[in-house]
Amino acid sequence: IPVDDFDLVIFGATGDLAHRKILPGLFRRFVAGQIPATSRIIGAARTEQDDHAFRDEAARAISEFAGVKANDPRLAQFLDLLGYVAIDARGEGGWTDLKARVRDGAVQAFYFSVAPALFGDIAERLANFGIVDSRSRIVVEKPFGRDLDSARALNATLARHFDEHQIYRIDHYLGKETVQNLMAVRFANILFEPLWNAQFIDHVQITVAETVGVAGRGSYYDKSGAIRDMVQNHMMQLLCLIAMEPPYHFDPDAVRDEKLKVIRALEPLEPGDIVRGQYQADGREPGYLDDSENPESRTESYVAMKVRISNWRWQGTPFYLRTGKKLRARTSEIAITFKEPPHSIFEDAGAPKANELVIRLQPNEGMNLKVMIKEPGPGGMRLVQVPLDMSFADALGTDGSDMPDAYERLIMDVIRGNQTLFMRGDEVEAAWAWTDPIIDAWEDSKRLPEPYDAGSSGPEEALRLMHRDNRRWREIR
Ligand code: BG6
Repeated sequence: IPVDDFDLVIFGATGDLAHRKILPGLFRRFVAGQIPATSRIIGAARTEQDDHAFRDEAARAISEFAGVKANDPRLAQFLDLLGYVAIDARGEGGWTDLKARVRDGAVQAFYFSVAPALFGDIAERLANFGIVDSRSRIVVEKPFGRDLDSARALNATLARHFDEHQIYRIDHYLGKETVQNLMAVRFANILFEPLWNAQFIDHVQITVAETVGVAGRGSYYDKSGAIRDMVQNHMMQLLCLIAMEPPYHFDPDAVRDEKLKVIRALEPLEPGDIVRGQYQADGREPGYLDDSENPESRTESYVAMKVRISNWRWQGTPFYLRTGKKLRARTSEIAITFKEPPHSIFEDAGAPKANELVIRLQPNEGMNLKVMIKEPGPGGMRLVQVPLDMSFADALGTDGSDMPDAYERLIMDVIRGNQTLFMRGDEVEAAWAWTDPIIDAWEDSKRLPEPYDAGSSGPEEALRLMHRDNRRWREIR
């Protein structure tokens, strides 16, 4: 379904995110017929160049990152939508030109793909030059602050010129197909929800494992670490979608209210409930200290934690979270381990094992439900656990390659004015309020992160978190 006619201004249009994600994503939506041919995409950045030069730059980025041939006629049609204004975010240059380009009647969106330090300058100039009004929307990217104070300051800066309903804070995990599917699985089936609580669920494991290291972005990452880079945002969002109460409606504020309640109910982390790791050189591969170019760094490239949610639904059911770079495989999944049946009627049949529901987010999106059955054969009643395995690709006859990627979907949601998959200001602040003490405690300590080998499952110490509770991490593969 095509969206309404729009003007999208991309601040930071010559940057990495615009090249890799925003422009290729818009191109794909254009090819899918979702973008009206009258819409305009206006790049804005410091570089002095004209529309033609920007179109050439965009064509190169789109060819590289959307895998499209430079002579594809659809690319030429898309490039016609593009324009460029050289702008000085901290000065007066270019703003009148920008005002002249943005149409009154169309949906107006302004994508701040720039360092957060510039948010205030840009917001102020958009307002002072009369480019925006109460219908305009702005899109901002993570990192949204680096702690509670800076996030509050950013929220306050934006709030000077925009209402909350105009601000779209991107967490690209929320745009992933399977992440949204979590809500469909939970709230469109009767099967799971009655069991979705501490009475029936033993524990939950959320894993986001990556094979990439931090080479090439070490200077950003070293000031961030896994907690700021992944836990405060992406992992927290996954946790919320799994743990939240059913919203009364699939509506932006109803969903975000429920997520916020989960974050507020998180218990402060005990010092023994967290393990930090750092990948080390193994002869062939460089280690974190090489990649980050900081030989003294204590920044974690891996973190595992045991999280408790202090409310009726989850009292006594821990959530174990882990994420890291340079691990054995790229895999993101959520595993829900149910409790064992209270009583077994089968003597000598082997103990029934707990049911487990694994939702694979990427790659090979799908669901796997482990159930007990009778082992086939003449040997009498013997129990065996088998997977009811469903790959969404097989079930739906698509491998997902035709699905919009997270950025495409989220940008189209901005144009549609749907904030459901964007973080509200209070959510972001609550998430920082929970992670701040964890980060502070580490900074105050003199400890070093646990080393782990590149290509492994993470530090040995992380096993302890589970073993002491008589549980085990699922294998990363
Ligand atoms: C980003 C982080 O937000 O998410 C990166 O800054 C991380 O460090 C990335 O690699 C993971 O996203 P995806 O979509 O590849 O799982």
